[in-house]
Amino acid sequence: MTAVTTRLATAADRPEIARLLREAGNFRAEECDVGLEIVDVFLGTGATAGVDGDYPTVVAERAGVVVGYATFGHTPMTVGTWHLYFIAADAQIRRAGIGRALCEAIREMATERGGQRLVLETSGRELYGGTRAFYAATGFTEEGRIADYYASGDPVVYFVWRWSSQDAGAFGGNEV
Ligand SMILES: CC(C)(COP(=O)(O)OP(=O)(O)OC[C@H]1O[C@@H](n2cnc3c(N)ncnc32)[C@H](O)[C@@H]1OP(=O)(O)O)[C@@H](O)C(=O)NCCC(=O)NCCS
Repeated sequence: MTAVTTRLATAADRPEIARLLREAGNFRAEECDVGLEIVDVFLGTGATAGVDGDYPTVVAERAGVVVGYATFGHTPMTVGTWHLYFIAADAQIRRAGIGRALCEAIREMATERGGQRLVLETSGRELYGGTRAFYAATGFTEEGRIADYYASGDPVVYFVWRWSSQDAGAFGGNEV
């Protein structure tokens, strides 16, 4: 299998990131726009600050070709929580370890900065079954749902990847 490497995105990657979003297969036009908007925040203002800037974005490459990307970042007002905002692997090269390599790279960068867990929201619809299977296989656990969130019949599902031994685990923390 061709090795997958990761690096921070540059302005030259923008067209490829736009293509990855467009061809992902499950993002609506509005979602593609928002995905690209936050990449632009990184490229415009955050890129000089790198992972510590706004909406850090990484790309995955195989043999020098961009085949995936992800936008993530430290969640403000938390200690150790990071958020995965967007992730996509080339629709022609799925199940080749691109998504996993991106998540591993994010975990490494977050850990270097005190990150202890990575949180994300995704859809509970059938269309996202493969995506949810990917998260479960990568180390994330489903820790919550809200029915009718994105629309009637379209729940939001919260996944968390915990790598800190200090975490109490799903719903094991403070009682409300
Ligand atoms: C989710 C996504 C990024 C996964 O990327 P990927 O590079 O194909 O995933 P990987 O090859 O790293 O998969 C790692 C493991 O996850 C699991 N997995 C990945 N895709 C899966 C699928 N469609 N069905 C079942 N399991 C899956 C497998 O266990 C896989 O390991 P294996 O192939 O050795 O069995 C990719 O499917 C994608 O871009 N989807 C469209 C965009 C999207 O849904 N983004 C997330 C929005 S919340």
